[in-house]
Amino acid sequence: MLYNDVSVNERGHLTFAGYDTVELAEKYGTPLYIMNEDKIRARVREYKNAMQDYFPSGSVPEFASKAFCCKQIYRIMAEEEIDIDVVSPGEIYTAASAGFPMEKSFFHGNNKTDGDIAFAIDNKVGCFVVDNLDELKALDKIAGQKGIKQKILLRVTPGIDPHTHKKISTGSVESKFGIAIETGQALEAVYEALDCKNILLCGYHCHIGSQIFESEPFGTASEIMLEFIKDTADKTGFVPEMLNLGGGFGVRYTENDPEIDYRKRICEVGEILNRQCEKLGIAVPKILMEPGRSLVADAGMTLYTVGSVKEIRGYKNYVSIDGGMTDNPRYTLYESPYTVVLASRANEKADFTATLAGRCCESGDLIGENFELPKPVRGEILAVLTTGAYNYSMASNYNRIGRPPVVMLNSKKDYIAVERESFEDMCRLDK
Ligand code: LLP
Repeated sequence: MLYNDVSVNERGHLTFAGYDTVELAEKYGTPLYIMNEDKIRARVREYKNAMQDYFPSGSVPEFASKAFCCKQIYRIMAEEEIDIDVVSPGEIYTAASAGFPMEKSFFHGNNKTDGDIAFAIDNKVGCFVVDNLDELKALDKIAGQKGIKQKILLRVTPGIDPHTHKKISTGSVESKFGIAIETGQALEAVYEALDCKNILLCGYHCHIGSQIFESEPFGTASEIMLEFIKDTADKTGFVPEMLNLGGGFGVRYTENDPEIDYRKRICEVGEILNRQCEKLGIAVPKILMEPGRSLVADAGMTLYTVGSVKEIRGYKNYVSIDGGMTDNPRYTLYESPYTVVLASRANEKADFTATLAGRCCESGDLIGENFELPKPVRGEILAVLTTGAYNYSMASNYNRIGRPPVVMLNSKKDYIAVERESFEDMCRLDK
């Protein structure tokens, strides 16, 4: 199987984190998101330890919580003592309500409203990642009104294309995020930030994209960022305490994706940072990284019940499930590949080629095409692997379909982290 926490038991059922997935489907109903909590914690520690070993002291990962946001994940990250990245007042509210120590949060976004800025300050967000000059000025003003000096990082675009899907590539000069180094505007922004009375510039941030398997794009980004640091320090005298290299390490969705050793990749980035800093004659700043997907994606799986199985003779086969784009819009949006297993008969020969269709009134509502499965029968359980990132957090209520619950699995117990959304929940705001 794709991962070592996925297997098949003596009943021929798919297991995940040691749990029989068919039993979980019976216990909690479908569609159902399940997440291996122990795997999330282990991955967080892998990042944390590698960053402590290969980067200067104080370097830590931040969980990019857009990948998976609910109170329980913030509690887990608080217990693991890492930072978080939040991108909206909603994420701030969720983290704060979960008791996350908000001084360890970084507030992102390319269009923070005055209301968002005030809300973040009131909730004691530790650091703003300022995207543009309008935000810088608004933040300076609001921080002044509130009588605080707000820590910030400036988000700059290093001008790199990491060769990933264009909708998840963000580091190029034309990106809607950040301020470009190439045009000289990033340097101008540093002067402005240093002039702001109510702002404390702590360093820089860049994020080049997602689903990156090699350390080379991070190495290139680091080189550009360090040159920028050196150049800016020479001109302004400002030496940053931190450099945030963003998120983006990939995960294995199918057998076609390479396996990735995060520790090794972090070690390689560390070597590039050391080499470059030595060449430039500057100290290596404290490094932050913001993994989202690589902390949670392969710790998640979605279970569905098979409904109709439609064979269009001479054309194609559809297997319809009781979920779809409302709980996983990633194929519809990005044609993302997935691995699918018939959980009820996980050992049987996969000799039936099928398109996996969701239940929405929308032809594009698919989880993917050309999956090889044993021919499923109505009522059987089907698993889509690697759905821990950007599934629950991107789920919608289209067609008034409720979001599935999230069940966490660990070595001691299975428990509900998010309840199933009911019809009443969906009608709650209707007048
Ligand atoms: N930091 C920043 C500033 C980001 O914009 C992102 C992702 C991350 C960190 C985390 O990146 P990760 O490690 O998860 O690749 N919905 C898309 C992904 C959008 C990513 C947006 N930003 C998907 O489902 O693939």
